[in-house]
Amino acid sequence: MSEDADKKVKKVAISMCMGSSCYPRGNDQNMGLIRHYLKVHNLEACIELKGHRCQDNCHLGPNIIFNDKPYHQVNPGMFPATLRELLPYLEQACRESSSGKDDADPAS
Ligand code: FES
Repeated sequence: MSEDADKKVKKVAISMCMGSSCYPRGNDQNMGLIRHYLKVHNLEACIELKGHRCQDNCHLGPNIIFNDKPYHQVNPGMFPATLRELLPYLEQACRESSSGKDDADPAS
């Protein structure tokens, strides 16, 4: 993959803390909800969903980072509002990412 394509593909990332505090206190459920949301809105292909280790912010958790913006005390009840707020941004970034993939992959 070219360096330009790599930057575009990494444009949108959702990183969930999988640490021993955040995960059992909500990110286990949050992960499933985000996966479902991305699938329903057809965003799976261009949103990178990943996990990260404890970042010593356990007292603020469960923690999730959308691109570089941290969200704290994330619980399943927050998702409808939070993800609805982020949806236009995610969709735009997804379109840009997809066009970058097309540029990078002549076979597609
Ligand atoms: S377990 Fe998530 S910040 Fe420590």
